[in-house]
Amino acid sequence: MFNKRVKIKTLLAGDKTNFEATVMGWVRTFRNNQFIALNDGSTNNNLQVVTGLGLFDEKILKRLTTGACIKVTGELVPSLGKGQKVELKATAIEILGDSDAEKFPLQPKKHSLEFLREIAHLRFRTNTFGAIFRVRHSLAFAIHKFFNDKGFVYLHTPIITASDAEGAGEMFRVTTLPLDGTAPKNEDGSISFKDDFFGRSTNLTVSGQLEGELAAMAFSDVYTFGPTFRAENSNTTRHLAEFWMIEPEVAFNDLEDNMNLAEEFIRYVIKYAMEHNKEDLEFLAQRLTEEENQKPQAERSEMGLLDKLNFVVDNDFERLTYTEAIEILKESNHNKKKKFQYLIEGWGVDLQSEHERYLVEKHFKKPVILTNYPKDIKSFYMRLNDDGKTVAAMDILAPGIGEIVGGSQREERLDKLTARMAEMHIPAEELNWYLDTRRFGSCPHAGFGLGFERLVQFVTGMGNIRDVIPFPRYPKSAEF
Ligand code: 4AD
Ligand code: MG
Repeated sequence: MFNKRVKIKTLLAGDKTNFEATVMGWVRTFRNNQFIALNDGSTNNNLQVVTGLGLFDEKILKRLTTGACIKVTGELVPSLGKGQKVELKATAIEILGDSDAEKFPLQPKKHSLEFLREIAHLRFRTNTFGAIFRVRHSLAFAIHKFFNDKGFVYLHTPIITASDAEGAGEMFRVTTLPLDGTAPKNEDGSISFKDDFFGRSTNLTVSGQLEGELAAMAFSDVYTFGPTFRAENSNTTRHLAEFWMIEPEVAFNDLEDNMNLAEEFIRYVIKYAMEHNKEDLEFLAQRLTEEENQKPQAERSEMGLLDKLNFVVDNDFERLTYTEAIEILKESNHNKKKKFQYLIEGWGVDLQSEHERYLVEKHFKKPVILTNYPKDIKSFYMRLNDDGKTVAAMDILAPGIGEIVGGSQREERLDKLTARMAEMHIPAEELNWYLDTRRFGSCPHAGFGLGFERLVQFVTGMGNIRDVIPFPRYPKSAEF
């Protein structure tokens, strides 16, 4: 019975009429006791179902409330009304799930994103979140397609790990030890993890990169695409405690190859979404325009969403070194007029997002790749440049987002790598497996990490990262 269902998207896209079809979905609105706007999530466009006056029992019609789930069989006919080419003339309606109109939190009107975040379990049923999550799906698919077509191997790296890949120490601990103070202790009073599940201290992964490097030393071209976790207490519109990251790692690539791959990759997936999610992106572009129009003129972005995406697809990213960027920032009027919260005084400081956004949005007005950062503000595994001060790092900065990609050429020389680890107090014994790749057949290689939600934010134009992942995790919030 149920498998006769036709998707609303298919019905609306076809050019045939006058045939019988069965659809199932959720009632968005029911007007004039006659017109149901039905949505099944295949598209934001609703199918108009006409109940016809006097054809159905009043008891059934009363149950056609916003949010109710129904099954309708009827004849697809050309529509005389405005706004749709076809409509379904219902011959049979079955209520699959009632929805109490008084209690259903979604009303057929505009709700704020903040309110919808509180009912994230229902927000999929709005036009905005329908569009966002279909685009998110497409981007995920395009990512796999891009790498698959290039002959990369998709690698599943561990989620529970004993290493801190980034060396940033912002990890969530994984343990089965009791938390009531009875956990076994070492002589010095610290907790003994010998009796813990894994016999050692473990965490949720912050990055699959180190394991990715191991596999790249055999398959040449690999990528990961999985969840990563960071216990950084960042309550911003660009940080999540649980986010998805794509990390390609390629043997024999240097920094320039790495940049070329990242640019090609970003363009490809954006283009894919533009081709396959045209309607959803048009809807999101319209939403963004309305949102922008609420802002004072000076704060509005000059480009609409679709123009911005086309621009990124059509134009090369600006490439410059960290040192050149510091010069630009230092000499900028913004800096001289003390408009930065953190003034740029000299070489060596880490860039804040205000600086990144200045470069991208005000100075270059396009995505920017910054390279060759001071070694002291970057991770231990990045390749030391001949100047002895900088490493072959690259960050890609996107308009409205800031950092979207972080990557580097890796230090493949064992002596240089172990010296750097010692300087940074990273115990070599714990990363013996990693160092083995440098002992046995080491080779130049490079990779990067793209934050998936930041990409989805960029493509959908959503201002808050909490709106582009179904159930966001951030400080003091792990609902659903
Ligand atoms: O710059 P990050 O920390 O780099 C790495 O993890 C490297 N291991 C990647 C590599 O070379 N294979 O993170 C990479 C990207 C950032 O550019 C950002 O887009 C995203 O991950 N990211 C976050 N996204 C959401 N919430 C957070 N808390 C994020 N932290 C990083
Ligand atoms: Mg980074």
